[in-house]
Amino acid sequence: MAETLSGRARELFAPLGPTYDRYARLLSFGQDPRWRRFLVSRLPVGPDETVLDVACGTGAVALELVRQTGCSVVGVDQSPEMLAEARKRIGARLIKTERIRLVEASARELPFEDASFDGLTAAYLLRYLDDLPAGLAELARVLRPGATAALLDFSVPQSSLARQAWNVYVDAGLPTLGRAISPGWHEVGRFLGESIRRFDAEWPPERLLAAFREVGFESPSARRLSLGGCLVGGGLVGVTDRDQVSHALLTSLLGLTGSGTVQQPGRRRAPPVAGETRENLRSARVAGRGGRPRSGAWPTACGRCS
Ligand SMILES: C[S@@+](CC[C@H](N)C(=O)[O-])C[C@H]1O[C@@H](n2cnc3c(N)ncnc32)[C@H](O)[C@@H]1O
Repeated sequence: MAETLSGRARELFAPLGPTYDRYARLLSFGQDPRWRRFLVSRLPVGPDETVLDVACGTGAVALELVRQTGCSVVGVDQSPEMLAEARKRIGARLIKTERIRLVEASARELPFEDASFDGLTAAYLLRYLDDLPAGLAELARVLRPGATAALLDFSVPQSSLARQAWNVYVDAGLPTLGRAISPGWHEVGRFLGESIRRFDAEWPPERLLAAFREVGFESPSARRLSLGGCLVGGGLVGVTDRDQVSHALLTSLLGLTGSGTVQQPGRRRAPPVAGETRENLRSARVAGRGGRPRSGAWPTACGRCS
């Protein structure tokens, strides 16, 4: 068995690709797609912008991003098997497949320049990061200042009744159902409960949000969904003093007046993707231009979260 969390994820997901979507929905009692819809609704992006979806798996979040916002997406995953399924799925669903590019890479070392993206999503990545602060820093690195990141993962319900039911489900229900499906799902069924508990104990929402803040996300917040079975968290990449100073200098050099937007210095073109040409990708656009204003862009803090 692999010694690292990312190595364990590699083993777990290798056999799941073809059946992942069907059983992920079934085993989450249909909540899984709802959580992804909520995750995507947090991103204030529009058709001219490019979002990075990390741990994209079979492409469910990427497809939802295109459906909700019309943005372009670069999906990254370390599993060739999950990406193969994503290619099939995206090919079958999308007329304009150039909206979504897929890249095989690890979240630990993203093959993109700094400040390349207008937004970032990651569903079920957090528990597989071997070094969470370093992983979050790498996600923040590829976002332009002012861009939003939204991440979700499973969580342990707070109320004692919901937690009791959850315990029974992850300890007995999931392994049993997994065994009935396939050896691969049996393995996942046995793995998930402990993985979620371990993560919840080590990274409770307050500590997770502090880690977000530490790597440069401003006003990070989190929200629990489905009685606490899911946690969605994230924030905006802060605009640093250096960005503000360089923008002020640029503005005065160009003879411009007025406050202007401080998001401009972080603007970058869409990132080159391994094995593909830069021309294939759309240009990243500065926030606000073409960006859809989304109501209540980030959830208000929940009970235990700040
Ligand atoms: C439960 S699946 C979720 C897939 C997708 N986000 C979704 O919502 O359906 C977790 C995915 O994370 C990927 N993954 C885990 N650790 C990773 C890492 N360090 N770098 C890139 N991908 C990773 C796995 O290969 C797998 O496809």
